[in-house]
Amino acid sequence: MKIIKHIQSMQRFVNELSRNGKTIGFVPTMGALHEGHLSLIDEAKKHADFVIMSIFVNPTQFDKKDDLKKYPRDFEADEKLAKSRGVDCIFYPTAEEMYPKKSWTSVSVSEITNTLCGTTRAGHFDGVVLVVAKLFNIAKPHFAVFGQKDAQQVAVIKQMVADLNFDVKIITAKIVREADGLAMSSRNLRLSKENRERALALHRGLQATKFAFENGERNVENLIDISRKIIETGQIQIDYLEIVDVESFQKIERIEKKALIAVAAFLGDVRLIDNEILDIS
Ligand code: PAF
Repeated sequence: MKIIKHIQSMQRFVNELSRNGKTIGFVPTMGALHEGHLSLIDEAKKHADFVIMSIFVNPTQFDKKDDLKKYPRDFEADEKLAKSRGVDCIFYPTAEEMYPKKSWTSVSVSEITNTLCGTTRAGHFDGVVLVVAKLFNIAKPHFAVFGQKDAQQVAVIKQMVADLNFDVKIITAKIVREADGLAMSSRNLRLSKENRERALALHRGLQATKFAFENGERNVENLIDISRKIIETGQIQIDYLEIVDVESFQKIERIEKKALIAVAAFLGDVRLIDNEILDIS
């Protein structure tokens, strides 16, 4: 497995791969790899001759300095996991390499970012789309795989790709959960034992809403209340709990077509997110 730290070397390398007719699959990450990330590699390997993973804790997408500082980092462990799952190359740049000076160009997706994480994490999605646009121009993949846990992020990236005509196909991989239902996240490492236990109410709450939906409830206020009551039993501080249209990410009052219930919540100083699709078909 190759490790490349410099942008120009990466570009030269992928140009050569493409000249040799290889299909490049890309898995962008911020490291602290867990089974969720590894499932993205599996998905990429289904379609690609060559899988590149980026590991870069992107400072421009953190709205809180402390969250950036505390974000778990363990390159050696990540390298082993990536290799064991068949990644062909890791792109591992420094912040100075990616941002030698402040970017004068911004990339910003509107509308879809007016709700959920877009309203509670100021500037977060601008940071995400900026770095993803840069990474696409560096790794030049034919397709890239993102996890459904960050459902709004996937929608925002798909919109950027469509609006700016990036020649990259976006593939979404489903949420991977621990045996007890907690959605896998690099931030889970930072949960205390008690908070990890309390965090289970997140998935339980979303599942109860999904169950009511499957049994015919379509009123969004009622559906949200079902989740809220369960989540509040875990004494969890809810950042948001909303049902939105799965494409536009706009709030709705009744579910008439595919929707998404999404939650973000704080357990101590750790912010977790989770979601479930409410599919009418
Ligand atoms: O989902 C993530 O880990 C990050 O937001 C991403 C897509 C790697 C951009 O930094």
